Amino acid sequence: MAGNKISKVKVVLFNDIIDDRGNLISLESNKNIPFDIKRVYYLFATKNGAERGFHAHIELKQMAVCVSGSCTIDVESIHGKASHKLDTPAKGLVMEGIVWREIRNFSDDCVLIVIADALYSEDDYIRNHDEFEEALYTNFPHYTDYTQ
Ligand code: TYD
Repeated sequence: MAGNKISKVKVVLFNDIIDDRGNLISLESNKNIPFDIKRVYYLFATKNGAERGFHAHIELKQMAVCVSGSCTIDVESIHGKASHKLDTPAKGLVMEGIVWREIRNFSDDCVLIVIADALYSEDDYIRNHDEFEEALYTNFPHYTDYTQ
């Protein structure tokens, strides 16, 4: 798992084109989406109280956008922990590389679109939190455990 790994989380606010008919937001590769789009999937009809995620990726770059309703994405990266409420289609959460994510507090009407730079590959997942921490220590020599 050695190499030039990344562990990055960033909020992006989109340009909301509003006229008397309503709103329009456009997402474009390497413009407001900071990578080439290879895959799109969406979470919807989420059961009451369900929690998803609980994994990190090794290489994958993703952006999550709540196009309807709201949810919370709690992230852990080399930069520490943060909680992001996604409650507008005008906001995207970019997660790149080794970032642990937990998604919860789905509203009944939540539709969470996730845009990714690679096809689905189970090999890119880290599904164990201890292994996630190990990956941070291994790949970022200056990383110190902020939880201690
Ligand atoms: P998973 O990534 O574990 O979902 P979450 O992180 O939202 O809890 O994926 C759930 C299942 O769906 C798992 O069997 C893998 C499959 N899957 C695909 O086939 N393609 C995809 O693009 C994704 C994201 C998941």
